[in-house]
Amino acid sequence: MSVKILQVDSSPLGERSVSRKFTAAVVAGLLAKHPGATVASHDYGTAPLPHLDGTTIAAFFTPPEKRSPELAEAIKRSDAAAAELLASDIIVIGAPMWNFGIPSALKAWIDHIVRAGITFRYTATGPEGLVPAGKKLIIVSARGGIYSEGPALPYDHQETYLQGIFGFLGFRDISVVRAEGLALGEAAVAQAMQTAEGQVAQAVDAA
Ligand SMILES: Cc1cc2nc3c(=O)[nH]c(=O)nc-3n(C[C@H](O)[C@H](O)[C@H](O)COP(=O)(O)O)c2cc1C
Repeated sequence: MSVKILQVDSSPLGERSVSRKFTAAVVAGLLAKHPGATVASHDYGTAPLPHLDGTTIAAFFTPPEKRSPELAEAIKRSDAAAAELLASDIIVIGAPMWNFGIPSALKAWIDHIVRAGITFRYTATGPEGLVPAGKKLIIVSARGGIYSEGPALPYDHQETYLQGIFGFLGFRDISVVRAEGLALGEAAVAQAMQTAEGQVAQAVDAA
């Protein structure tokens, strides 16, 4: 069976986006490595999913057979997004840092895919991820400052959040491609791009 790749971008900056440059490089590398792979790609930076509304959340808490037509309609988008995630073998997420966290467009998608009973469940011993073993996640992180070390480390609510939420869903194989220090001048940018290019190659090798 062919490898299914899911590409999720969340920067609205098109050609100027650093995260998009590297998600594209990762996906190109994956396609070269896995001939015949299919790619589903979402440009949530320019066409985001809507934030969860009251009707969708009500549908989350209503068993399918008890949902009104309105609730059944409201939950379709979330069901489709969660099913797509579960059907994918390799997930590539482009994540700019915005105000120490992730863009709300990326959060909106995450709010649709984190589903009790579908992508995680509660058990007597605590929550358990329902994402089957063997799936790979590649997080492409882009940020202006340096957060992997030094004084700003406690302010990284972007990569740490993504590692946390996808770990919660059951992902055990997570690689990071990181371009950081992009606001720190030409030399820092050149260094960041070179480091990230190396990490693209490593992530593709491992996938
Ligand atoms: C709205 C906004 C908020 C940002 N907040 C931060 C931040 O808190 N920390 C940081 O280091 N860089 C921040 N940046 C810089 C971006 O992380 C950086 O430009 C990165 O390249 C964005 O990814 P992109 O190029 O794929 O859009 C911010 C940029 C924007 C547009």
